[in-house]
Amino acid sequence: MPLMKCNRGSSFLINGPAFIALHDGKSFLLGKRVVAGEEMIVPKGKSAPLEVESESIIEIRPGSGASINEFVGAIPNDWKTAVETILNSKAPLKVMIIGGVDSGKTTFAVYLSNMGFDRGLEVAVVDADPGQGEISPPTTIGLGILKSGIISLNNIPSEDMRFVGSTTPSDLDSQMRIIIGARALVDKAFAKGANLVIINTCGWVSGRRARDFKISLIQSIAPDFLVIIQKGSELAPLITVLDHFKFIKTLKISTSPASRVRSREERKSRREDAYQSYFAKSKARVFNLIETPLLNGHYTYGRIMPSTLLEDIQKQLRLRLLYGELGDDFLFLVTEREADPMEINKLREITGMNDIIIMPKGFEKGIMLGLISPDGGFAGLGIISHIDYESKKMVALTPIDCEVATLVIGHLKLDDSWHEVCRLTQAPL
Ligand SMILES: Nc1ncnc2c1ncn2[C@@H]1O[C@H](COP(=O)(O)OP(=O)(O)O)[C@@H](O)[C@H]1O
Ligand SMILES: [Mg+2]
Repeated sequence: MPLMKCNRGSSFLINGPAFIALHDGKSFLLGKRVVAGEEMIVPKGKSAPLEVESESIIEIRPGSGASINEFVGAIPNDWKTAVETILNSKAPLKVMIIGGVDSGKTTFAVYLSNMGFDRGLEVAVVDADPGQGEISPPTTIGLGILKSGIISLNNIPSEDMRFVGSTTPSDLDSQMRIIIGARALVDKAFAKGANLVIINTCGWVSGRRARDFKISLIQSIAPDFLVIIQKGSELAPLITVLDHFKFIKTLKISTSPASRVRSREERKSRREDAYQSYFAKSKARVFNLIETPLLNGHYTYGRIMPSTLLEDIQKQLRLRLLYGELGDDFLFLVTEREADPMEINKLREITGMNDIIIMPKGFEKGIMLGLISPDGGFAGLGIISHIDYESKKMVALTPIDCEVATLVIGHLKLDDSWHEVCRLTQAPL
């Protein structure tokens, strides 16, 4: 593509993937100050508004499906006013962003980060979206501290992460891990010297459970400013509650006319690319679950059932029981095949146990794991390959070879090609 001469005051929208180089002049790309000689990439699936401050010569090399058009108002005026209000307030500041899927949360986080960085603030971002987060891999949430202006959050060097174990917080384990993890990452950001901490969140906002989760997250973070991006009326019930929280200043802004809607498949395929690159260099590692215990779940927490007892029980069912543990309040069984609801009821009758966890043989393969280091921090992700239940040895694929203290069982299962197979409502072990 030839060089483009752009007049002072003009504005463009660049739809990625595209390489951009500024040969002369001064411009702002998503609020990042760009000077002559700088090169940048607008990633696939992302759009970036370019605002020309002084006559500029720009080279654009578009990738497949990319485009560049004159576009006025990609950064809405209410975004600019909200950023001014925030940056005119006294630091240190915590700014949390909420809104539905594709409302522009991540883009606003980038824009505010750049504007804050340009004013000399120490900017940190806690990307608390375990599905579409950009600072850390899917199923985790991440903290990054800006060292330069950015085009997307994945330009920020990652400082720390926390394991969530799922790509949406629709189960209670994931909700708890996000609420605790995001708060810990915010505290760490301040400890590292940040004075503007931006907390980006996931797009799960509709319905009672989503609302309760968002309110708990807001209470745990206690932001100075809550930026609410309104796309339709989906946030109305949440706003009704938040209007009573006098300790938070809310800034209601609109979705940009330049925003794009990404399909569920696009979002899923983005995550799967991320798993693939994360696990590219992984190796099989054996964990002895006595020395490196599971932090959650039932398996290893009960007394091993003698084979005579298992045989007695299985005589009353048509299901082979391969391994069993009896806990104070649960029964954990590894079975030849999946049990049907009638068989589970029968097991309840026979054993008098209400909480029965059934693990069909081999079902553990593909379950996501969080590896926790001895200091309690997150060491990395793993994927279970196999468990030898008798000897309590687990084989997992992981790129991590440092010391691991404990393992957390996630709620997501991947297949050998890094496709998401299923999401489990509770930790399956
Ligand atoms: N102000 C904006 N200017 C240009 N593109 C935008 C803007 N806001 C959102 N987009 C585009 O819309 C899509 C969704 O925005 P994103 O910030 O990822 O939403 P969310 O984080 O709320 O899901 C992305 O492709 C993004 O590049
Ligand atoms: Mg986002």
